[in-house]
Amino acid sequence: MKQVLVLGGSGFVGGHVCEKLVRAGYRVSVTTRKAVHARCVMHLPGLTVLECNIHDEAALARAMVGMHGVINLVAILHGSPPAFVHVHQDLPAKIARACVRSGVRHVVHISALGVDSAQPQAAPSNYLRSKALGEKLLADLLGWEHGGKGSCGLTVLRPSVIFGANDKFLNVFARLQAIFPVMPLAGADARFQPVWVQDVASAVISSLAHGLGQAPAVRVYELAGPQVYTLRQLVQFAARSSGIRQGLGRPVIGLPLWMGRIQAFVLGMMPGEPVMSQDNLDSMRLDNVAAGGLPGLEALGIEASSLEAIGPQYLFPKPASQGLLGVRNRHR
Ligand SMILES: NC(=O)c1ccc[n+]([C@@H]2O[C@H](COP(=O)([O-])OP(=O)(O)OC[C@H]3O[C@@H](n4cnc5c(N)ncnc54)[C@H](OP(=O)(O)O)[C@@H]3O)[C@@H](O)[C@H]2O)c1
Repeated sequence: MKQVLVLGGSGFVGGHVCEKLVRAGYRVSVTTRKAVHARCVMHLPGLTVLECNIHDEAALARAMVGMHGVINLVAILHGSPPAFVHVHQDLPAKIARACVRSGVRHVVHISALGVDSAQPQAAPSNYLRSKALGEKLLADLLGWEHGGKGSCGLTVLRPSVIFGANDKFLNVFARLQAIFPVMPLAGADARFQPVWVQDVASAVISSLAHGLGQAPAVRVYELAGPQVYTLRQLVQFAARSSGIRQGLGRPVIGLPLWMGRIQAFVLGMMPGEPVMSQDNLDSMRLDNVAAGGLPGLEALGIEASSLEAIGPQYLFPKPASQGLLGVRNRHR
């Protein structure tokens, strides 16, 4: 039985990836900073949760002993510039060195659409720049620098924004519209090509299977859904699907960049994860749309599912008793 180590397997995409891996017959280990974070996957048959510090290279190499493949889903969306370097650059470098030391045969690394590892410094945000440098470090340290031939293969997957039950994207837009009478929105015209979380998870499994079954190589894919939307359209879609104001939603007021920056500053001062940060605004200066020069889901044998088909299955109108959403619904 093939053994796989999943870094970040406790997250939104990780849960779906782990479930598919178990179904496909892999023996799966998931690292986490705190075992309770991995509640959503720990019940899966044959899955082991390892509470460990993956930033400690020796601990990481120990976790990789006996593993055929490694999947890296660890990332942050908000943080200081050093935090982005720590998670998106230093960690991939450690993963690469540990994989070589431990004899891992294939790594699947989840990056992001808009990343260009050939020109990392051209990226408009800390998120995209650090992701680009991380991709490059991973490939170089696995032995693929300057046309070299590494012993461990690498698949890089670059998804657009990912939707699905429990996403922190359309669900958040739906919840905000249930509470506030208008939606002031920075980057309203930024374009995205949302991809379903199950399609991303299938792409991970397919990449791993190909990688373990073939001679080591580096492959890069763009993962995008069948249709392009502006952020404004996505906010309106979330309202329609979740029945906000009988599906009409709230008026969306596009903010100019300078106002968006003030909004992001204020949101950043509030406790918890910000809905929008300065760095997110910088990322949105690039369209989050497949450039088309790289293979996509179809090359992995996956037909991309549409937002129209999937969204309403989890963004349905919530009963009036559900938390803040319910409070607002009761007053509509
Ligand atoms: N969601 C999207 O729309 C989207 C779009 C494009 C690309 N992606 C990429 O897809 C991948 C998975 O995203 P996701 O949405 O599933 O992310 P997520 O839900 O935030 O999960 C990320 C996981 O990384 C771990 N993690 C976070 N910070 C860490 C740190 N400092 N040190 C160690 N572990 C840390 C966490 O595990 P523990 O808390 O258990 O340690 C968490 O479960 C990421 O590479 C992301 O950039 C996502």
